[in-house]
Amino acid sequence: MPVFSGIRNVSVPAPAKVNLFLSVSGRRKDGFHELLTVIAKLNLYDLVTLEVHDQPGGTHILCPGHSELENSENLAVRAVNIWRSVTGSDQRISITINKKIPVQAGLGGGSSDAVATLLGLNAMMQEKLSLQGLLEIATQVGSDCASFLMPGLCVASGRGEKVREVDIASRAELVGKKVLLFKPGLGFSTAQIFGNLKSSDYGFTSLAFAEQEIEKWEKGETTLSQFMRNDLEAPVFRKFVFVEAMIQELKERFQLDVLLCGSGSCCLSLIPDELDINPVRNLIEESWGSGIFMAETHFI
Ligand code: C5P
Repeated sequence: MPVFSGIRNVSVPAPAKVNLFLSVSGRRKDGFHELLTVIAKLNLYDLVTLEVHDQPGGTHILCPGHSELENSENLAVRAVNIWRSVTGSDQRISITINKKIPVQAGLGGGSSDAVATLLGLNAMMQEKLSLQGLLEIATQVGSDCASFLMPGLCVASGRGEKVREVDIASRAELVGKKVLLFKPGLGFSTAQIFGNLKSSDYGFTSLAFAEQEIEKWEKGETTLSQFMRNDLEAPVFRKFVFVEAMIQELKERFQLDVLLCGSGSCCLSLIPDELDINPVRNLIEESWGSGIFMAETHFI
């Protein structure tokens, strides 16, 4: 049984992520896809609040305004259950997640909430799990969870669980850079988008070529704009043609660097300092109508 410190509740901000570079190089026997991806975090957070009770009990979750997320499928609950099997804790644990990150958006909100939950529990324990211990739990929760245990910018490979930090110079280039996020009213299922991938969608013929691209970017031989790519755009664009139309229009009319976030449905555009963002926002709002999510944020 873990021994908790005197602190019995804690709030942890859970940042959103975007994949600046996402290359798929094959489908594995276990059904997952082999990835090489560069993941950056954004100044857009959910807030995860945890409370540990003295008495035994289960895991209880509240997501104000999102009753559809209040169940055992929630990745934060899954993280607690795996954490319990590692630590032996049977105490009642309450989780409250105040959502700011849209769901089914490709921004990693659910995974980030799960990792914030693990970090919060760890912060309250007298004997803490190591980073390696947390990574092992995170990997069992979801493919992109491990990346949330890394500082701002990281490279993830395998199904997303093998993570390493990105060269410091590329990190410095990114921090503070402004981003516009925009998402249509409907969300996309990650499993469905991966399921619709064809091998002809893979941007690189081998993992080694994708690795070379990342290396070039880390060395400063390519710009962020040249570097940004996402192999998951192909299956999304085939099914949701309005997403491709919008991305193309923003590229052509405003010369913006625009990309689908992960498996979507959120998209991101870099915002140059000199740009008047209002015509861009108006175009998206008028075209995609009600129910859209839009936020100006920056890389952290
Ligand atoms: O690991 P996670 O539960 O986040 O993945 C959701 C779904 O996305 C998986 O069930 C799988 O269908 C797909 N996926 C994949 N290859 C990856 C990561 C996810 O095919 N590397």
